[in-house]
Amino acid sequence: MGLWSQIFGSRKGKETAPDREALDLSAFAVDYHSHLVPGVDDGAPDLEASLEMIDALVSLGYRGAVTTPHVMAGMYPNTPETLRPPFESLQRAVAVRHPHFKLALGAEYFLDASLLDAVQNDRELLTPGGRLLFELAFAAPPDAGLLQEFLFEVQVKGLKPVMAHIERYPYWHNALDQFEELYEQGVILQVNAASLAGAYGPEIQKAAETFIDKGWVRILGTDAHGIRHIDALHASRFRPAVHQLAEVAVNASLL
Ligand SMILES: [Fe+2]
Repeated sequence: MGLWSQIFGSRKGKETAPDREALDLSAFAVDYHSHLVPGVDDGAPDLEASLEMIDALVSLGYRGAVTTPHVMAGMYPNTPETLRPPFESLQRAVAVRHPHFKLALGAEYFLDASLLDAVQNDRELLTPGGRLLFELAFAAPPDAGLLQEFLFEVQVKGLKPVMAHIERYPYWHNALDQFEELYEQGVILQVNAASLAGAYGPEIQKAAETFIDKGWVRILGTDAHGIRHIDALHASRFRPAVHQLAEVAVNASLL
């Protein structure tokens, strides 16, 4: 049993002591932010692993997922051309196994100068529903000018920027005005279920809860790289912040 399973138990195992009653996670309906495409990043290594995660989402009442492989210069040089064939294989397998489960292909773009360049020069990006998911580095804040120029260009193109797992940038945990500004600028803010379940420690959990409490968060994502993240989602259903987020989340409209 892995570390996360020891912490959260398993979806089939015994429940841990609840903080309150369990939320029916089908309220979210659509997962947004995951790494389900087999063999393209540090997510599902093969089709079997992808299907295990999708089986688990279906069993929790989800009816679809926008899956978002990493795109990061040098590390994950994925493009729409490289991602579509493995995504379509996954989609075919899912259509047989879960005919009502919808899948869309997005991407999780790392914010750097090459992403800004791609937006400015109209290179094809994966933006289902007109939403562009982007992430920042975990260790150091982005260049403020780059971030602002990127957000401006994205919005000028008629796209909606979605910032991934906003609780996982510890350099901004004490800079709440940063998120308030982003929220007011029209950036859609996403948190990870695993953070709310405590998988990344109490500080990140607290940050996620604070941002939800402030009313800035609109999307719950699994950021599933493996089945451990679905186990964490399952565990998160007892958390008051997850109940609170379910009231305002837009997940159901994302697919
Ligand atoms: Fe991710």
